[in-house]
Amino acid sequence: MPKTVKEISDMKGNEKITVLTGYDSTMATLCDQVDVILVGDSAGMVMLGYEDTTKVTMEDMIRFTTAIKNSRKNSLIVSDLPINSYENEESAVNNSSRLVKAGADAVKLEGGKEMANIIKAIKNAGIPVMGHLGLLPQTAEKYSVQGKTTERAIELIQDAKILEESGVFSIVLEMVASDVATIITKTMNVPTIGIGSGKDCDGQVLVVHDMLGMFEKIKPKFAKRYLNLSEEIRNAVNSYVMDVKEKRFPEKEHAFSMEENELEKLEKKIV
Ligand code: KIV
Repeated sequence: MPKTVKEISDMKGNEKITVLTGYDSTMATLCDQVDVILVGDSAGMVMLGYEDTTKVTMEDMIRFTTAIKNSRKNSLIVSDLPINSYENEESAVNNSSRLVKAGADAVKLEGGKEMANIIKAIKNAGIPVMGHLGLLPQTAEKYSVQGKTTERAIELIQDAKILEESGVFSIVLEMVASDVATIITKTMNVPTIGIGSGKDCDGQVLVVHDMLGMFEKIKPKFAKRYLNLSEEIRNAVNSYVMDVKEKRFPEKEHAFSMEENELEKLEKKIV
């Protein structure tokens, strides 16, 4: 049975929450031991080849969510509401419902106190919401660490409180100075999920392509690489190309043949 939102919330203080992004069925099958698969709009970069997340559409997110839903067994699915899909309460509820219909158990949106009414509206429609504070890729002019000054740290702490009061079941903290992430995590009842925000968050999220060493355009400091898959893929593709060019592939074991008597009959007929 897939994890529930309540089970994820209840992990706060008991067990760290593991989150990886996912966009396709093969990866959902391979990553299903994480607590949450986040169908992130980072798909714009790693799947669609855009520079950032600002061109990702609802149709894209529905397609990626469906792919994850088709193969997940254990993880909770949280899908990102893409940019321009939650500008008012009506569009936010409508688009959240579309993601749920495609297979999401919950949705995520970016922003602080200005999102309070939107979050309440989605929650009142029966859809759980994950917040996202700190670096907000949908609107950020540049990617930089958040909460390095007292003023910005206070703003983040207040935003987190307002998001919690609005009903989010957890909050992603992206590139927030660790000290600030620690304070937010300690003062909140809902779990924080950190990305580049230090070890004290209640859980961690990484973009799966970063974690596997498959994405080479950007290498964020916080994205620990557990594999160097891009090198392995390149080597494998190179071997395949050489094998075909030099006629080492396919071999007999990779091919199919006719029964001998059928082949004889055929040869008689075509001569
Ligand atoms: O889109 C995404 O992958 C995200 C994570 C970086 C948290 O929002």
